[in-house]
Amino acid sequence: MLIDEFINSEKREQVKAGGNKKCFVFDEYVLLYGSFKEEELQQEMRIAKELQILGVPLIPTLEYRVVLPPNEIGYSRGYMLQQRAKGNSLYSLSMKENEYEQRLSEIVELGQEKIDKFVSDWMKIIEAGLQVDPSKAENFFYDNGNITFIDLNLRQVPVNFQYAFLEAAEVLMGLGLKSKKYSDKLCKIIKKVSRSFMKQGLPLKDISEIITTRWNYILNEAQIISIMQDLMVEQNDVKTPNNTPFDYLSKDGKTL
Ligand SMILES: Nc1ncnc2c1ncn2[C@@H]1O[C@H](COP(=O)(O)OP(=O)(O)O)[C@@H](O)[C@H]1O
Ligand SMILES: [Mg+2]
Repeated sequence: MLIDEFINSEKREQVKAGGNKKCFVFDEYVLLYGSFKEEELQQEMRIAKELQILGVPLIPTLEYRVVLPPNEIGYSRGYMLQQRAKGNSLYSLSMKENEYEQRLSEIVELGQEKIDKFVSDWMKIIEAGLQVDPSKAENFFYDNGNITFIDLNLRQVPVNFQYAFLEAAEVLMGLGLKSKKYSDKLCKIIKKVSRSFMKQGLPLKDISEIITTRWNYILNEAQIISIMQDLMVEQNDVKTPNNTPFDYLSKDGKTL
């Protein structure tokens, strides 16, 4: 098996340790070492491969090897082999301010269709039963205008779509990392992500609620009004798909 060659490789060097896993980087592949429930990992691998075939840019685990058998709560330790994601982390805590500003500028320049794709990919991942961990921008890779999802897990809890909106926008803004002095750029990103979620069928009142309660420390009143006015005008032109995640995944339109 391919994975054994990488496990035995003399050349492996650890360049990254995430919160939980160690990551050994090779030219085309990465070898991860961490803990997992074998049955869940198998399910994750199957779903991720199906999503990849559908064109969702995520990185499935190709093979795994258990090194330490399951502990009393079912977690084994071992290796996972994945294709190496192109590019580098979307944002990271270790970024210097000028690097953050540079990446933020690239994201601001992304066309609406790129943001729409990012949001619909995210929705597809959730619908398929996986979860995106948005708490670390390292779980998203950026390469030349394209965003790839890494570090996906089997979804354990219901997803609230208002929260998905909040999280998707904050991932793209790299929020929490740097200050609100980039308000103009952040405003443009929020506007585009709001549009994408409106197209996905998230009601305008939910979008408005998040913007006014969560981002009022980044945006001033004029910016908030400008976003909401634009969305209200565009609302009539937007054709939401017949089946939005909000209809067919849940009754109240919010949780999955
Ligand atoms: N497929 C991949 N391609 C490139 N880098 C990866 C890949 N998988 C993991 N990494 C790197 O290793 C780090 C840790 O892996 P991750 O799966 O996110 O584990 P953790 O559970 O520790 O967050 C990532 O943040 C990333 O820098
Ligand atoms: Mg991670």
